[in-house]
Amino acid sequence: MSLDRYLNFASYGPITGAALAASHDIDRRAAAGAPAARLHAADDRATAAAAALTGFAPENVVLSSSTSAGLMQAAFAMPPGRVLVSRAEFPANLYPWWRAAEAGRISVGALRPADPRRPLTVDDLAGALTADTVAVSVSAVSFRTGHRADLAAIREAIGDRLLVVDAIQGMGVVDEDWQVADVVVSGGQKWLRSGWGTGFAAFSDRALERLVPALSGWTGAERSGQYSGDEHPRRRDARRFTMTNGSPGASAALAAGIGEVLSTGIGEVAAAVHVRAAELRRLLAERRAEVVTPEEHAGIVVARLGADAHARLAVAGFATTLVDGDGIRFAPHATTPVAVLAEAVDVACG
Ligand SMILES: Cc1ncc(COP(=O)(O)O)c(C=O)c1O
Repeated sequence: MSLDRYLNFASYGPITGAALAASHDIDRRAAAGAPAARLHAADDRATAAAAALTGFAPENVVLSSSTSAGLMQAAFAMPPGRVLVSRAEFPANLYPWWRAAEAGRISVGALRPADPRRPLTVDDLAGALTADTVAVSVSAVSFRTGHRADLAAIREAIGDRLLVVDAIQGMGVVDEDWQVADVVVSGGQKWLRSGWGTGFAAFSDRALERLVPALSGWTGAERSGQYSGDEHPRRRDARRFTMTNGSPGASAALAAGIGEVLSTGIGEVAAAVHVRAAELRRLLAERRAEVVTPEEHAGIVVARLGADAHARLAVAGFATTLVDGDGIRFAPHATTPVAVLAEAVDVACG
């Protein structure tokens, strides 16, 4: 099936051929009884790939089954204090904080930003940063509008506090300096095209010092191969955030998905995505559609065209998402032919 009309990478990215083959290869070998250690070598490959993509050291990266799992880990590892987050975030970046607060570990400042279309800004944070604020959690790219957060400015504004970033809508499609953050979490099922059940979290050295995961299991402890009944201390590296082993098939898929981005070069992928998203903005503006995505964007472009437009697009074979009732979220990838965008806009604008 051709993916030419698939403009929905912000929902999920169809798994690439390389990721599919890598995951099948693990399943095939597992079905033949290959030793577990050989299969789990894929974990190291995925960790190294995520480290290369984000600029963090491999010891500072841990694999995760989703964005939510990574954020839950961060939330249940926070030192006591207040965590600020915007109510405009995708719920995956709200519930971990609410649940950790319910468990009595932290308190949450769930802010209503002046402009709910954008991730938190420095202005939103200005009056909210209290002495007991220990962290701010923000998404790199808004799932509802494509607005990008100014991570460097937020870093600057919050000083020594931890900056947690839900990176899934930007990972693999923007050339971001992820290292301004202390915790960078991403699932691999969208722009990285690695399938569900894949993802990772990267931690700054400071985050590894301050975060003590409650949800740390036997693989998160030193000497995990010693089944002596003794409680061992948590590992010092990011693997302290594991509860058990992950799926080597998922690891292999993630390593392959990220590998494709790395072999093309994140700069090149980001430029190709930007060209397509910019073309969509231009075409929509030409048709006088109300475009809510600003010039500084990643791969998401949203225009208020109504639910009928979404239905028309579906009939014409275009996959998009309807957001907030009347917004059409277009999300092309670097592989989307530029020529189909005009057709999509024609269909959408009626
Ligand atoms: C900003 C953002 N965070 C998180 C998620 C999903 O999180 P998870 O990987 O836990 O499904 C999405 C999309 O579904 C999203 O847009």
